Amino acid sequence: VRPLRIALAGCGHVGGSLLDLLSARHAERTSRVSDTPDVHVTRILVRDASRERPALARAIGEGITSDDACITEAQHLLDGDIDVLVEAIGGTTTARVLVETALQRGIRVVTANKALLSEQGEALQTLASQHGTRIDFEGAVCGAIPIVRCVRSGAAGVGITRVSGILNGTSNYVLEQIADGLSLDAAVAAAQELGYAEADPTRDLNGQDIEDKLRVLAWLAFGIDPQTLKVTRRGLDAEIALWAAQAAAEGDRVKLIATCERDGDGFVARILPTRVRGDDAWAAVRGPFNRVVIESESAGSIAFQGPGAGGLATAGAVLADVLQ
Ligand code: NAP
Ligand code: HSE
Repeated sequence: VRPLRIALAGCGHVGGSLLDLLSARHAERTSRVSDTPDVHVTRILVRDASRERPALARAIGEGITSDDACITEAQHLLDGDIDVLVEAIGGTTTARVLVETALQRGIRVVTANKALLSEQGEALQTLASQHGTRIDFEGAVCGAIPIVRCVRSGAAGVGITRVSGILNGTSNYVLEQIADGLSLDAAVAAAQELGYAEADPTRDLNGQDIEDKLRVLAWLAFGIDPQTLKVTRRGLDAEIALWAAQAAAEGDRVKLIATCERDGDGFVARILPTRVRGDDAWAAVRGPFNRVVIESESAGSIAFQGPGAGGLATAGAVLADVLQ
């Protein structure tokens, strides 16, 4: 069986962690039988090819990729025979061109890019169907929590009426740190250092990243074009940080909770800082963890909870999509 050939866009927190998972998997596979294919990373798109990248060096050492794999010209990423494009650069410009080009050529796409999906998800899904291929995006919503495949397949419930969640690991981590006495700025710097935050952390704090994920979940749960959903939102700022510190001093917690639910023939979607009791299930969501509750006619209520951010947690979801 020939190896699966992957073109990897991005070698940052997610792309670099994917290389590490592939290297670890390669070492493990030499000692056991597996029914999943070997993986070869043909090319890796980055902005700065001269930067030292330990994950890349390890992947070259394991034969996952080659020492001339790093390129900076996006137009050459898909040259040759490619089975899967993994898009982990983020943003909606180069990422969109790459994803569209791959789908038009019938190449399968795996992406962790919720910003792109919240705008173009419906159009990209249509493009994939037109060209007999698919686009998968488990890593785009809630990191390691397998919420995309569960909602997409109906396994999370049939006849979904309401989706709610803590959908951003950075802001949840920051709120926890504030509860423990850190300043807003120091907590954000720590989240960046740990690889939870977006390249521009403003999106994590002002609720834009949560909104992107809520749009994608609403698309999967209710079939509405994600870019048409109207969302009311309030993010995390100095005033909310003060409120969170006060709530913590009184034994409670402040959480950024997103909700989208049916309302007559339409939908209501909002993202609001919410004070919950210290012994509430929402209060138990710690650090970069996320929690999603799906309410449906078939199953009542199902809650998912786990690591929602971080390179490794997300790369695991990306790898699962690649090997599916
Ligand atoms: P990151 O650490 O900033 O890495 C981005 C990578 O893409 C870097 O290797 C960068 O190259 C490369 N890149 C960016 N723009 C490029 C361009 N125009 N041309 C060529 N290369 C470019 O970002 P990340 O945290 O891995 O996130 C990647 C994606 O995963 C985003 O869509 C993000 O929303 C999503 N995501 C992230 C997490 C997380 O916890 N980090 C979780 C879920 C989803 P250089 O290395 O040379 O700068
Ligand atoms: N910056 C995002 C977060 C990454 O903190 O949740 C995961 O999507």
